[in-house]
Amino acid sequence: MLRDGGGVNAAVESLLVEPVPRLVGHLAVPGDKSISHRSVLIGAICDGETRVTGFGRSADTEATIAAARALGVDVYEHGADTLRVFGKGLRGLRAPGRPIDCANAGTLVRLIAGILAGQDGERFELTGDESLSRRPMGRIAEPLERMGASLETTDGHLPMTVSGGGLHAIDYALPVASAQVKSAILLAGLFADGETTVVEPAPTRDHTERMLEAAGASVTVRSTSVTVRPAERLSLCEVEVPGDFSSAAPFVVAATLVPGSELHVHGVNLNPRRTGLLEILERMGANITLYNRRAIGGEPGGDLEIHSAPLVGTSVGAKEVPLAIDELPLFALAAACARGESVLHGAEELRAKETDRIEATVDALRPLGARARANEDGFSITGVPARLRGGRISSRGDHRIAMLGAVAGLASREGVRVEGADAVGVSFPGFFEMVERLRRSTRNQRQWNEP
Ligand code: S3P
Repeated sequence: MLRDGGGVNAAVESLLVEPVPRLVGHLAVPGDKSISHRSVLIGAICDGETRVTGFGRSADTEATIAAARALGVDVYEHGADTLRVFGKGLRGLRAPGRPIDCANAGTLVRLIAGILAGQDGERFELTGDESLSRRPMGRIAEPLERMGASLETTDGHLPMTVSGGGLHAIDYALPVASAQVKSAILLAGLFADGETTVVEPAPTRDHTERMLEAAGASVTVRSTSVTVRPAERLSLCEVEVPGDFSSAAPFVVAATLVPGSELHVHGVNLNPRRTGLLEILERMGANITLYNRRAIGGEPGGDLEIHSAPLVGTSVGAKEVPLAIDELPLFALAAACARGESVLHGAEELRAKETDRIEATVDALRPLGARARANEDGFSITGVPARLRGGRISSRGDHRIAMLGAVAGLASREGVRVEGADAVGVSFPGFFEMVERLRRSTRNQRQWNEP
C-alpha cells in the first residue's frame, strides 16, 4: 500500500492497494457497528450500568457516544473497546439545548428518533453531515407522527426536530424493508399505550429485538412481524459485541478471489439476517466453512475459513437484499470476476445509502475493467473469470466503496488507487492497516514454507 495526500486534506487521502499473489492468515475484525450503536442507545434508556465489551470504534459509533452524552448519559471508556453506559431510565433523557450531530450515521439518527419520540415534553434537534442530510427521514417521521410524536423535517431530510409526546401503539406495515425504520418504531413502542406491531415486507436484521428482549422488554417475533409491549424499566448489564460481519466481508471476498488463499476470520457475528453474502457466494461456488459456532453476546457467531475458488454468476432478488444490504457492492466485485452473468434486482434501497450505491458501485468497477451496468433497482454484470486490470476509484466519501476499491486492488493485476480512502473510518478505521498486516503475514508464511 502506498500512501499519499492526507497531510493537508485528509478527506482526499489516496492509497494505492497493490495486488497480492495470495492471502494467508488469521484475523479478527472490530465489533459489530449495528450492535455497538444499539448497546449505547438502549443502554442510555436502561436503569443503571451497561458494560459493553468489544465495542466497535468508528466515526459512526463515536457519534452515538457523543449523542448519548449530549442527552445527559454518562459513558465511560476503558481501554480500546470497553464502555460503561450509565442509563437514565426510559424517560430520563434531556434535550441538550443544541442540535445533536448524527454525523454520517443513519442508524444513529433513525434509532435515536424513536427513543426521543418517547421523551414527553422535550424537543430535540437532529443534524448530520452532507451525506446523511441527503438521506430520507420521512420514513421514520411518518410512523412516529402516527404514534403521536411531532417531527419536523426539512423537506423529508435533516435537520429534523423531534418533540416527544404521549405515544399511541400502532400496527405498521413497513413500505420498505429497513431494520432502521423497524427499530425506530419498536423503540418508540416501548413508550406507547399498548402493543405496537411492525410488519416487514422481508426479514431484516433483528439486533434491536434481541437486545430489547435481553433488557427485559416484552417482544414477540413472528415470521413477518414483531410486536413490542410498553416497558416499565429496562436493564442490560452486559453486552458482548461480536465481530462485524460487514467488516469481515471484504476479506471474505478478497480471499475467495485471490487464487491460493486460505484465510480465517475469528469471532464474527453470523446472524443469518446479516450473512446473506455467504449464501450468495456459496451459490457462486465459493469455498467458505463456518466453524466454532457459538453464541456471542446473544447473537449467533463463530469463525470463518475461506479458500479461494472459481466463481460462477448468480442472480439476487428482493428477499435476499436486506440480508446482504451492505455487502452488495462486494457481490458486484465477485460477479465481475465470475464466469457468466450476474443480476441484482429489488435493491432500489441501495440508492438511499451513504451514496447511491448502485451508481457508485458500477462507476467504481467499470474503470477497473469490469463489465457492469446499472439498472433502476440493481445491476447486471458480465463476469470475466480473471483478475481485473485495476486502476483508480473514488470512494465518494462512502466507506463501503473505499473497501470495495481495496479488495479490487488486492485481486487485480495492476492495483487500485483508492481516492478518499479515509472514508473507511466511518465503520472500520483500521481497515487499511489490517490489509497490510495480512499482506505481511502472507509473505512471512511463504518464507516459512520455503525450503
Ligand atoms: C442498519 C440497517 C441497514 C444497514 C445499515 C445498518 C442497522 O439499513 O444498511 O448499515 O443497524 O439497523 P436499513 O435498515 O436502512 O436498510
